[in-house]
Amino acid sequence: AVDAIERLAIRGAPALGAFGALALVVGLDEAQPGSLGDAGAVLERFRTEIGDARPTAVNLRWAVDRTIDAALAAAGSFGSSDNTGDGSASEQGNTGDSGSAGSVAELRRRLLDEALAIGAEDARACAEIGRFGRELLADATVIATHCNAGRLATAGTGTALGVVYAKAAGGEPVRVLAAETRPLLQGARLTAWELADAGIDVSVVADAAMASLIAGGAVDAVVVGADRIAANGDTANKVGTLAHALAAADAGIGFYVAAPTTTIDAALPSGECIAIEQRNPDEVHHAGGTRLTPTEAVAINPAFDVTPARLITAIITDAGVLRPPYDRSIAQALAAAGDDMRESVE
Ligand code: MRU
Repeated sequence: AVDAIERLAIRGAPALGAFGALALVVGLDEAQPGSLGDAGAVLERFRTEIGDARPTAVNLRWAVDRTIDAALAAAGSFGSSDNTGDGSASEQGNTGDSGSAGSVAELRRRLLDEALAIGAEDARACAEIGRFGRELLADATVIATHCNAGRLATAGTGTALGVVYAKAAGGEPVRVLAAETRPLLQGARLTAWELADAGIDVSVVADAAMASLIAGGAVDAVVVGADRIAANGDTANKVGTLAHALAAADAGIGFYVAAPTTTIDAALPSGECIAIEQRNPDEVHHAGGTRLTPTEAVAINPAFDVTPARLITAIITDAGVLRPPYDRSIAQALAAAGDDMRESVE
């Protein structure tokens, strides 16, 4: 699972969360712990190994923590002598009897339930983002996007592309300009594929072509996904997003971030605090398996950039459309999302 995450076989913030949570169940099965104590220790190891596999997308860390915490909290009520499930050293010698095996099976069930709930909630969030985005962008026909924030990046229809799918499903004309997204070409390979697969008009453009297309009036709105949104609205997304935001601001068109509330990291006051993943320079040196750069050249490969809140027209979330000032609208949205969670738990 960690290998799949690191080489981007699974990628996109919400998909990373849903996948990371399910990977905990697979890992627990492989580890075959004989007691709740052993199972707790295994999960604590996965909390770091899986949760930290990519640093910028907050959904991965959030989903892994939520799933483990829910399972361990439930383990406290399983009622056998080895049932604290905190992985403490005193429990490591417990090889388990049939009661322990039953408790581990119960823990696994709770882990799987939580992981499946995360995926189902994300699918619902995508649908809500699509609904709100369609209302907001009723007048936009040509939508520019970056990277891939669609079916291949979430457990549902996507965030930025969720808006596109909702427009298409509603019978509205929609055309997408997909920035190719160097160096790994998520726009050219993934966004173009999934939109073409859905019968939606898509044109791939070089990243460097987008600014002049926006300046020339060829784009009605820019809609992108997000990997982490700070409390003030500053947003980390695939490197290159910032350039589109600057071009949109200069041209006076809307620049929208579409993301579930699970991508908001309210613990971070601003984008300066967001850890930006630095990836292997070889991704920049090579294209299509061929080295393009001279061996003397160094490559720098930040996977994400941060778009400041002042360049973001609105953030389209499952809790509604958030407007500046974002510190206030984000706090309100999170409070509302928390209330919903409490109601569904009750
Ligand atoms: O490196 P990636 O492909 O995981 O980057 C993904 C993005 O930047 C997406 O835009 C973001 O995760 C939102 S996906 C709904």
